[in-house]
Amino acid sequence: MQILDGKKASQAIKDQLKLDVAQLAVEGKKIPHLAAILVGNNGASETYVASKVKSCEEVGFKSTLIRFEESTSEMKLLEKIEELNTDPDIDGILVQLPLPNHISDEKVINTIQPDKDVDGFHPENVGRMVQGLPSFIAATPFGIMLLLEHYKIETKGRHAVVVGRSNIVGRPMSILLSSNSSYGNCTVTICHSHTKNLKEICLQADILVAALGKAEFVTADMVKQGAVVIDVGITRVVDSTKKSGFKLKGDVQYETVAPKCSWITPVPGGVGPMTIGALMKNTFMACRAKN
Ligand code: GUN
Repeated sequence: MQILDGKKASQAIKDQLKLDVAQLAVEGKKIPHLAAILVGNNGASETYVASKVKSCEEVGFKSTLIRFEESTSEMKLLEKIEELNTDPDIDGILVQLPLPNHISDEKVINTIQPDKDVDGFHPENVGRMVQGLPSFIAATPFGIMLLLEHYKIETKGRHAVVVGRSNIVGRPMSILLSSNSSYGNCTVTICHSHTKNLKEICLQADILVAALGKAEFVTADMVKQGAVVIDVGITRVVDSTKKSGFKLKGDVQYETVAPKCSWITPVPGGVGPMTIGALMKNTFMACRAKN
């Protein structure tokens, strides 16, 4: 069994971006600038946004963190997005999800200008991705594709099973793995809460992507010997021995599944860091398109 080390692969992406940004500076060109919007005080969202801002610093991007109270109105948030849309210094806009219930995710996503939508959530980017056209690809599925590429995992003709059909991960992942492109060309099965015989289908997977958001859902009896397992889960589970009071659990029961795998992503240190690397890459591309 070998580890798909997302920390290492993401560092390689960030090291390259750092060089690319230095080159932009030498050429007197614009430096990428990411605006991140955080509404409320959700603990996990605070951590993710802080880590995105920190990564911007690491690679030499500018970043602006905009915070709103949990009670802020949808209109105020949309107005801020409009302002960022027209600000020529801002290359990428991300609004951390989930949003409070009184704010429509759909309206927010649709308001972000597609050429600044570095999260790849706007329907125009999703549509372009489905058609195989140049687009921003959502950071988690894009990060997983970059991880497969980093470790040169053979995908062509293999059976990939994606468990979970969210707009953020499962659905785009299924499209990318089935695309006629490098690290695609899989035969893909997408499973969800109504799937019958889930265990039997998972057992047929050469590549298994667990993205359903249930801690340790995938157990050893669901995984074929030699499979490549990608664990997208990051559930916080109470653990009083930790300073933070919790530990992160993936969607895969790592201890029992890992010995059966050819490759597996750990949690933490697998898909999580790749998501950030992919976001940084998208932000760089948004800026380059302007330069
Ligand atoms: N919440 C969970 N994943 C993501 C992501 O990739 N982007 C944003 N904006 N919010 C998220």
